[in-house]
Amino acid sequence: MQPTVIAPSILSADFARLGEEVDNVLAAGADWVHFDVMDNHYVPNLTIGPLVCQALRKHGVTAFIDVHLMVEPVDRIVPDFAQAGANLISFHPEASRHVHRTIQLIRSHGCQAGLVLNPATPVEVLDWVLEDLDLVMLMSVNPGFGGQAFIPSTLDKLRAVRAMIDKTGKPIRLEIDGGVKADNIGQIAAAGADTFVAGSAIFGEPRTREHYAGVIGKMKAAVDAVRV
Ligand code: DX5
Ligand code: ZN
Repeated sequence: MQPTVIAPSILSADFARLGEEVDNVLAAGADWVHFDVMDNHYVPNLTIGPLVCQALRKHGVTAFIDVHLMVEPVDRIVPDFAQAGANLISFHPEASRHVHRTIQLIRSHGCQAGLVLNPATPVEVLDWVLEDLDLVMLMSVNPGFGGQAFIPSTLDKLRAVRAMIDKTGKPIRLEIDGGVKADNIGQIAAAGADTFVAGSAIFGEPRTREHYAGVIGKMKAAVDAVRV
């Protein structure tokens, strides 16, 4: 099991003052920045691209940037995100014609690679690529929007993927994305996740560093409580 990571999704941040929001959430104890990229094609929403990632780097953000691509096709945009300062790039297998090739492409640009499974995507998609990944992400909502409710069947899916990862003996992270809150993160951690995306639970608080620290602190305490 990897050390716990809390990765606030900036999808729910105030885009009009994004640099300040990211500074505040990192000062409040966040470990990574989760960067949701939507294209109004693979998912029915449109968000931010490589220029915004680059702008955060220019603003002075040095934290790990976890880019979640909800775009189709995937490969065209991978080098742009690597150039813009992404540390890890994850994508959905349904959005890539050649999943293994996309993983190789991400790595060839010096980034870590992640594969994202939608609620209805079977875990078998990992069978021949798991050992080539740095991270598996399970969607616990359908991708496209923040603020949706956690789908409970994801807990069993987490347990299944945790067992697959443990069998490899490799330091592959297991990330959960969607509907994560301070009051359900404990069960999610107990089911095997080590990396937690949370958008509305963090940025839905009043927009101050202190409020962000309060909710991130509660989340970390709830995870620690099941890690003993
Ligand atoms: C959904 C995104 C998520 C989303 C999570 O497609 O991938 O990262 O922002 O938001 P919450 O935590 O509000 O469910
Ligand atoms: Zn996401």
